[in-house]
Amino acid sequence: MRVVVVALGKMGLPLATYIARAGHEVVGCDISAQTVELVNAGRAPFPGEAGLEEALGAAVAGGRLRATTDTAGAVAEGPDLVVAVAPLYVDGDAQPDWRNVDAVCEAIGAGLRAGCVVSIETTVPVGSTRSRVAPALVAASGLRAGEDFDVVFSPERVSSGHVFRDLDTYPKLVGGLDAGGEARGVSLYEQFIAAEVRAMGSAEAAELTKLAETTYRDVNIAFANELARFADGAGLDVARVIEAANSQPYSHIHSPGVAVGGHCIPVYPYFLLAGDRHARLPRVAREVNDAMPAFAVGLLERELGSLEGQSILILGVAYRGGVKETAFSGAAGLRDELAARGARPLASDPLYTDGELVAAGYEPLSADEAVAGAIVQADHDSYRALGAADVGGASVVVDGRGVLDLDAFAAGGVRVLRIGRP
Ligand SMILES: NC(=O)c1ccc[n+]([C@@H]2O[C@H](COP(=O)([O-])OP(=O)(O)OC[C@H]3O[C@@H](n4cnc5c(N)ncnc54)[C@H](O)[C@@H]3O)[C@@H](O)[C@H]2O)c1
Repeated sequence: MRVVVVALGKMGLPLATYIARAGHEVVGCDISAQTVELVNAGRAPFPGEAGLEEALGAAVAGGRLRATTDTAGAVAEGPDLVVAVAPLYVDGDAQPDWRNVDAVCEAIGAGLRAGCVVSIETTVPVGSTRSRVAPALVAASGLRAGEDFDVVFSPERVSSGHVFRDLDTYPKLVGGLDAGGEARGVSLYEQFIAAEVRAMGSAEAAELTKLAETTYRDVNIAFANELARFADGAGLDVARVIEAANSQPYSHIHSPGVAVGGHCIPVYPYFLLAGDRHARLPRVAREVNDAMPAFAVGLLERELGSLEGQSILILGVAYRGGVKETAFSGAAGLRDELAARGARPLASDPLYTDGELVAAGYEPLSADEAVAGAIVQADHDSYRALGAADVGGASVVVDGRGVLDLDAFAAGGVRVLRIGRP
């Protein structure tokens, strides 16, 4: 099978490599010349994806994977399947900015040949595959959707860091514009996905499933965060409560934390809300989760008194441990909340150089600087080994992810506060 994968980001590149590893001929397309150059050299442009570097090197060396900036040209070579996984960027209020996805559709459409199946894997609001993507492909190609070519929606359900494992494990959902197109999409995916490939009956059902599973997590975490706030006020340990509640099979409460970040979980509830004006829970969950950075700063303030003029260290600007990505990171909420209370927010992150921290909007902690307090924002593995001497001289640390070794801090006389665990 010949496959084109458009957008070689944290999702697209592992997917392209996975397809090539299964023995197919893959061309990856990206607008970034630097990404294309690195991929053609067999090197991953970002760290932290398990097995990627090795599999990518082997696929490129074996001639099964190459990259180009010419999407239309790659699609014009007449592949069986084109997979598009460019991100749908959103603004600060999570309103979709379609320019990126529209550009991808235009480039694919410009090269599209009859007989191809185009699969959209970018998470989109319900109805977008039928009402936006397919018409854009038709307009750019002059071909008929459902007759000359097919369009399906197949959500990325994997997580950065272990994409291969997730592709091997979770059912791959495929929804089409009609039964014939969906069946063709399913049979193409079955040629490389190790897990079950599940026909969803329509593109809309597949789109809604992705929004349902991500919004479920946001709502669940919001509930855990509400429990944590209550437990904090009542002098109870929320971790003990949640663990006990989950010891029977009907309770699946997630863990509270300082923030919900990343491209997906804090964004997709808004996609759901955009299509369902009667929905209420996703909006409330967003409010609850968005308030957690302020709650964490409040814990620090309770201990240190006014934060006015005090330097406070944010440990981890990545939205979660091990992933070099700051999209919708809770670090931004902490920085802004600290600044609003008159503090001077500083940041450090083992995945980012000082220059990268500045570019991302953070002031790096310098080696000779002392801070009054610190807040752990990302659950980087290395933070489990931190001790009292590693937090810039802070006398109080809010462990927003429950990763610190309490004994190591107690031994150094540094107080550690945790969310919902007074
Ligand atoms: N990151 C995740 O954990 C995750 C999980 C599930 C689903 N997703 C979905 O995957 C999508 C992609 O996410 P990602 O993490 O791979 O993004 P990313 O930011 O890592 O990569 C995006 C890539 O798209 C490229 N690109 C942008 N515009 C392009 C264009 N017009 N033509 C070709 N390439 C273009 C960029 O150069 C970049 O390499 C998200 O929008 C989301 O829908 C992501």
